[in-house]
Amino acid sequence: MSKAFIKEFWKDKKMIGSILPSSKFLAAKMLNHIPLENTKLIIELGPGTGIFTEKIIEKIDATTHLIVLELNPELCKDLKAKIILPNVHIKEASADKIGEIIKEFGFEKADIIISSLPLANFSVELRNSILEVVNESLNENGSFIQFQYSLNAYKNLKKLFPVVKLNFTALNFPPAFVYTCSKR
Ligand SMILES: C[S@@+](CC[C@H](N)C(=O)[O-])C[C@H]1O[C@@H](n2cnc3c(N)ncnc32)[C@H](O)[C@@H]1O
Repeated sequence: MSKAFIKEFWKDKKMIGSILPSSKFLAAKMLNHIPLENTKLIIELGPGTGIFTEKIIEKIDATTHLIVLELNPELCKDLKAKIILPNVHIKEASADKIGEIIKEFGFEKADIIISSLPLANFSVELRNSILEVVNESLNENGSFIQFQYSLNAYKNLKKLFPVVKLNFTALNFPPAFVYTCSKR
């Protein structure tokens, strides 16, 4: 599966953002500190080959819905072929459309939003519009978890979320910072 990821990286480096999928160590840092169980709606942005998607699915039961948005058509097609579950909804769409997409599925807000989007490669306009819609789409008690390869996103996230906690793993290529953001 990572062959497909590398191929897509060479086609559009900025959109994919990394030459390799994330490690299991980064997946653990992203997912192990947040209770994914007993949630109604989780959203994943930028799943790539599904390294985090599969871990999320291991932790939830059939009553939790997972909406996954991937902009790259090839990666999205592979993910749809690999994951066929009634509570997992994989869509080829840009992350800035989450507001309207969660409504299509009959939800108002998400409990948890997990993002691998390469924010540093986006235009200021796209980055801001995605972060604003993430903020609007998140429950008051919800968490937004985002990884990046630098600390540059801290300022942007802190403008929108009163609480931004940082974590780090060197056991990824490249090493990564995990931002966990909440409204209270
Ligand atoms: C750094 S990769 C992470 C992939 C995977 N989650 C991982 O950690 O290995 C970023 C992913 O975000 C996707 N992506 C980029 N821009 C996007 C957008 N605007 N909306 C949704 N997905 C996007 C890319 O196609 C790519 O799959």
